[in-house]
Amino acid sequence: MTTPNTKADPNVTEFDATAPDVMALMGAMSLGDKIGQMSLAQPGEGHPVEALGDLVRTGKIGAIINVVDPVAVAELQRIALEESPYGIPLLVGRDVIHGFKTIMPIPLGQAASWNPELVRMASTSAAAEASLTGVNWTYAPMMDISRDPRWGRIAESFGEDVFLTCQMSKAMVEGFQWEGLSAPASVAACAKHFVGYGAAESGRDYATTNISEHELHNVYLPPFKAAVDSGVASVMTSFSDLDGIPATAHRPLLTDLLRDQWGFGGIVVSDWNSIPELTTHGLTADDQGAAIAAAHAGVDLEMASDTYLSHLASAVEDGKVPMEVIDHAVARLLKLKVEMGLFSAPCPNIEAEPSNIKKRALEHAYQSALESMVLLKNEHHTLPLKKEQIKKVAVIGPLADGAYEQLGTWIFDGDPDISISAWAGLQNKVGGDLELVFEPALETSRSRDMTGIQRAVEVASQADVVLLFLGEEAILSGEAHSRADIDLPGAQVDLVKSLHAVGKPVVGVIMAGRPLTLSNVMDQLDALVYAWHPGTMGGAAIADLLFGDAVPSGKLPVTFPRVVGQIPLYYNAKNTGKPPTPELVTYIDDIPVRAPQTSLGMSAFHLDVAHTPLFCFGYGLSYTQFSYSNLRLSRPKIQAGEHVDVHVDLTNTGDRSGTEVVQLYVRDPVASITRPVRELKGFQRITLAAGETRQVSFTLHTDALKFYCSGRGWILEPGLFEVWVGGDSNATLHATFDLGDE
Ligand code: BGC
Repeated sequence: MTTPNTKADPNVTEFDATAPDVMALMGAMSLGDKIGQMSLAQPGEGHPVEALGDLVRTGKIGAIINVVDPVAVAELQRIALEESPYGIPLLVGRDVIHGFKTIMPIPLGQAASWNPELVRMASTSAAAEASLTGVNWTYAPMMDISRDPRWGRIAESFGEDVFLTCQMSKAMVEGFQWEGLSAPASVAACAKHFVGYGAAESGRDYATTNISEHELHNVYLPPFKAAVDSGVASVMTSFSDLDGIPATAHRPLLTDLLRDQWGFGGIVVSDWNSIPELTTHGLTADDQGAAIAAAHAGVDLEMASDTYLSHLASAVEDGKVPMEVIDHAVARLLKLKVEMGLFSAPCPNIEAEPSNIKKRALEHAYQSALESMVLLKNEHHTLPLKKEQIKKVAVIGPLADGAYEQLGTWIFDGDPDISISAWAGLQNKVGGDLELVFEPALETSRSRDMTGIQRAVEVASQADVVLLFLGEEAILSGEAHSRADIDLPGAQVDLVKSLHAVGKPVVGVIMAGRPLTLSNVMDQLDALVYAWHPGTMGGAAIADLLFGDAVPSGKLPVTFPRVVGQIPLYYNAKNTGKPPTPELVTYIDDIPVRAPQTSLGMSAFHLDVAHTPLFCFGYGLSYTQFSYSNLRLSRPKIQAGEHVDVHVDLTNTGDRSGTEVVQLYVRDPVASITRPVRELKGFQRITLAAGETRQVSFTLHTDALKFYCSGRGWILEPGLFEVWVGGDSNATLHATFDLGDE
């Protein structure tokens, strides 16, 4: 019998009161029992109890995934407690990514709210709904920085920015684990995918990544550090490789950094099948080699595959895996189960009255949908629509009545029957006052059959205004659903053109799992609302927004490129030695024949598209307008460990109240390594009445100015810093301060 080496693993000493129990349990368990705790299985197609009951009973598994029948979960937990060798309860995992039965907007949409508190609240609802079934562990939040809209999983991300992703990740972890891990309506969270998965080459899911050490530390790792600091219970490894080592076998990441440097005391779980895939990657020769590599790297729990069950015991007996590796993993797993209160209350509370939970979830889904929507264009104040000025509304498009499609990716348990489509939302809201006519025009977002377009034109020509619901079906984003062409799919561009030609005001509403390239339709839309995949309450929120009972406040959490060839395009890029000037415009068609080699200028741009995005990070309009003035700093010079206060006056210059997301950006223009042209360092949602002015203040501490530099770690360098405050990443109000070196 080997007990955990508490000296070697500082996390084991954190057991406090529960330590003796875990230690005693560990002392009694055989090697096989311990490896069982390190294994997680799924029921497949079979009945959960039939498929998994014996594995639980014989101690072959310590965790299950994808069992959501509360009766089956309860029975499996009963077997675990009463019939398995040591009575150890199960972790019950499920992908609760953006809601459970009630679906919130996709995480990318939630990020567009720039409202971490709302994200936190929505996650408490998702956790509560999931826990009713006995699920006690979710595989969320996904905090992979995503700079490539081709990547299908950008939908699950919080976008391209480090600071925003840190805030949202923290909020979601706190929401899932609200009131503590042992609270009946909370679930353990999982920070995924550690790390760099979002950098998949060309946005092809699972593709390799090329991330420099600086980018890794300055861009990809901070959200995970924020999640660890927020007490996240688990971390999932990435499918991808990093500098030649697949993350699932990356000991420097999983053990040296995550555990030893960051002090993470929770569990590390592999992604689905990612241990045997070490062999597919070409790192190991077979399943045994893969099991050894993953265990040695620090993977505590194997998801879905069974290389640990089949090979770890012999690897330990042959001296290929030290026993203490197993002991540390099992100690962490048992510690988590103790912290989750599973030994005393492992079963779903199926007697619970779920009506309050459902009511709260619907409220959170509505508010999240509302705040996630970004108004991208509003010519001639087309929006909000004024009921008294119109009689007949044409409701057109393949996403107009998409109660299911608007839920987006990862909705295993989502209930499409309670989802309110835009068509339903509009009928509920104005169906009694206005004549609404519905014509989908295209059967799905991918349809190329043009016959419906003519019908849509006829409907539009009879109406006062056209509401055009475009986008992507749910299946076009998410895991393994990347796209190389991110224009509106099918014949939707033709549909927009045909409706524009009718001459009535056309309001576009796009529901999609990613930023789409919209240059080819922008001129033909009078107004455009980007609704992402807005979830269960999407239609109700859209109707309220379009008719002015709510005012848009969302801002883009990700840059919208003009064309796919600009990707990757993100605001916090490097300046380069040859940045294009803002006014640089080059069109390939205008280049004179035999133009001299250098006559077009020598800077970082494409010949055939503007060097700017279609919409920049942080962009979003309101029905009112805001102006910024009087940017001032509390002092011109600070020292390390101090802070500077940044103040700005924000005025609502329009004629109705509204909410603005005030954004603070910083640049370190001279540093030991080149630094981004701007970095978001703060934001606040401020609601002002028409005509109101308010001072908005940020505290900028020197900790926020640190960056990672190879060979030196996180450093703070003295010198000048630039500051901008405004309503998007192109903010122009500017100030500077000095960081002294005394
Ligand atoms: C995904 C994970 C997910 C897991 C379990 C994998 O394919 O990459 O994000 O949590 O499946 O469903």
